[in-house]
Amino acid sequence: MDIALHRYLPMRIVILDSADEVAAYGAEIFIRCIRQKPAAVLGLATGSTPLALYRRLIDANRDAVVSFAKVSSFNLDEYLGLAGDHPQSYRHFMNTHLFDHIDINPDNTHVPPGDAADPLQACADYDKLITKLGGIDIQLLGIGRNGHIGFNEPSSGLQSRTRVKTLTRATIDDNARFFSTQEFQPHLSITMGIGTILEARKVVLLATGAAKAGAIKAAAEGPLTASCPASALQMHPDALLIVDAAAAAGLERKAFYKHIERENQKLLQSLGKT
Ligand code: GLP
Repeated sequence: MDIALHRYLPMRIVILDSADEVAAYGAEIFIRCIRQKPAAVLGLATGSTPLALYRRLIDANRDAVVSFAKVSSFNLDEYLGLAGDHPQSYRHFMNTHLFDHIDINPDNTHVPPGDAADPLQACADYDKLITKLGGIDIQLLGIGRNGHIGFNEPSSGLQSRTRVKTLTRATIDDNARFFSTQEFQPHLSITMGIGTILEARKVVLLATGAAKAGAIKAAAEGPLTASCPASALQMHPDALLIVDAAAAAGLERKAFYKHIERENQKLLQSLGKT
């Protein structure tokens, strides 16, 4: 689908019935992108939301629908203080849920180093490496209940770069479910900045479930504000929000967004582009 058609909207919003449809729709966009550009640079995310999308990418790779052999990837964030072999590290998450099951070259997968001796230098190096590899073609995002993207918590600078970021109590509590009670849970992270994310050529944010409804409303229909980091995507020329019915529940203009999608489908069909 030619997303350029939708550039008159601050964000394109696709509302689907179920979380499964969200994963399928998102996976299809990634597969198309890689098929068009086999050496694509992907921006990837952790959290429960992208898991179903990753399973679909694994299946597509197994079925030879898509190859990751030339792909590079950059993850959004990592806990500061956790080495990549720590079971709660995002590096471990990515290996377990995606990289170990596809034909990507592990050397081409990048996650901020949570155990860097000099984290500030590591942040600057991460941004430099993204630039060196030509920038991110397509960035996958989830969203925190407080509107965070990556670990850019509310009050993050809208032009921020990859940096060390302190987590809010809400995010620490939300993510506590992954840590056992005795286990050290980091309160700091390394995250791509909002400015870094906005430089990706295309941004695809997935949200599912009622817990995300408030964040989605603020991101899509609220003011552009550092209080809701995801609202910065309103400034992006090619941002797509794919949400299920529960996450879309708070949107005021839901019917209009659905109408826009139907009209766009018709237009694309008439242009022979679907
Ligand atoms: C973490 C990650 C975010 C992710 C968020 C939501 O805080 N740093 O990138 O979007 O969790 O996670 P979930 O998809 O599990 O709700």
